[in-house]
Parts: sequence; structure tokens; C-alpha cells
Amino acid sequence: MWNPDQYERFRHERHQPFHDLVGLIEPRDRMHVLDLGCGTGELTRQLHEQLHAEETLGIDNSETMLLKSSAFGGKMLHFERGNIEALVTDRPYDLVFSNAALQWVGNHTSLFSRLASFLASHGQLAIQMPSNDDHPSHMVAAEVATQFGIEARPVNVLPVDRYAQLLHTLGFQRQHVRMEVYGHLLHSSRDVVEWVKGTLLTDYERRLPPDEYARFLADYATHLLAVIGDVHPYFYTYKRILIWGSF
Ligand SMILES: C[S@@+](CC[C@H](N)C(=O)[O-])C[C@H]1O[C@@H](n2cnc3c(N)ncnc32)[C@H](O)[C@@H]1O
Repeated sequence: MWNPDQYERFRHERHQPFHDLVGLIEPRDRMHVLDLGCGTGELTRQLHEQLHAEETLGIDNSETMLLKSSAFGGKMLHFERGNIEALVTDRPYDLVFSNAALQWVGNHTSLFSRLASFLASHGQLAIQMPSNDDHPSHMVAAEVATQFGIEARPVNVLPVDRYAQLLHTLGFQRQHVRMEVYGHLLHSSRDVVEWVKGTLLTDYERRLPPDEYARFLADYATHLLAVIGDVHPYFYTYKRILIWGSF
């Protein structure tokens, strides 16, 4: 249900956290990089070039997102279809990276332990995830889901301090973990619907028949605007967690 065109509608806003995350990485010579939930691969390409990486592999389980990746791949930059949960590798990576994808994967305690096991002895982990489930844009979606008889999307992202603890427990010698509020001045509050249609609501779209999803969307918009107001412009606050660690 991922639609690259819908996701790219807020391209500029979505790229800033990626650049902030890349800024935390310590570039080293000839890095081998793994990008989990790489989407179209456009940002994987930027990561690969910015780090002058030796080799980069992007993994994603969405066929529609990966369809675009052929435009960004190269001799030492590959993309493969796969589930983050099922990924196994015997190659040690210098960097395990993930931008805006791990919020879709459950059980972060065991997930982070697995990701740490993919790293070389000097390896780095760099992860960015939205943590905005207490914003009306997300809470209203969960409420409307219940009215439609389906479960709200699970909240997989842990409180920010838990990641600092996790990294310490997993043996990372140095770390930087922070929560950042990205403020987006949208043309109107109705644009929030367009924003979440490209991400959060894909989960509900996948689980509902098309006509019911259309009704879900209409109810969602009505309820959301009742809570946040039908205003122009609208300042959309979006919390994200940025995590970096090095052994
Ligand atoms: C919000 S997009 C981010 C894409 C890219 N990292 C970026 O920053 O532009 C999230 C991506 O994670 C992928 N994804 C979600 N759950 C996944 C899973 N369990 N295994 C692999 N990919 C997954 C989706 O298919 C989607 O392309």
C-alpha cells in the first residue's frame, strides 16, 4: 500500500531528519552500509555518496517503493526485497542505518539486539523514527479504527530514554540519543490528512476493503478537523527520535 508519490508530497519536510541523522555518523574509509526500510532508495543513494561508502545494501519489503530504486542503484549500491524482521546476515556491517522505518517493526528490545549483532567491532548504528503517536493526527486514526472494528496500529516506538539504556546494555561505548520536535508550517490543517495518507494510514488502507477505506478516510478527516480546527496555515508538530551509537 506504500505509494511513493503520496509519500513524496512532503519531500522537503521528510528529508530534514534524514540529513540530521546522517550528520551524527562518523565517516570512515570504505564503509559497508546496510539501510533498513530504504523505500525508493533515493536517500540510500545520498547516504552512499555522502559517506563515500565502499558498498551499500538497501532492504525494503514494498514492491511499489522498490520499483523506483533501479534509478538510484549502481555497481556498489544494491537493493533487495526483504523483511527487516526476517533479515539474516553473516557479513559484519560498518553502519546499520534506518530512516523512518523501524516504527513499523515490533519488539524493539530484541530488534536492536539483532541489529547490533550485524555490526563489525567498530560499527555504528544510526536510526531515526517518528514518535508522534500522542498527536491528534495519530490518536484520531486509532479512534476511527476502533469504530471500524479493526485494531489501532500498535505503538512500537519506546520512550526515548529506553533507547539510551538499550544501547548501553548492548555494549555501545558512545551514543547520542535525542527527541526532536520538527515543526512543519502546512498550508492548512487539511494537509495533515495528506501527510498521514502517505505513511500512518497505509496500514489501515492495507487492512480495509477500498470502499471502507474511503469511508475511513472521510471519517478521519471530519474527526481530525473537529479536534485541530479547520485552520490556515497549520503548524504541525512532529516528534522524532534520533539514535546513534558506536562500539
Ligand atoms: C516512511 S518509508 C521511509 C523510506 C526511506 N527510508 C526514506 O527515508 O525515504 C518506510 C519504509 O519502510 C518500509 N518497511 C516498513 N516495514 C518494513 C519491514 N518490516 N521490512 C522491510 N521494510 C519495511 C516500507 O516499505 C517503506 O518503504
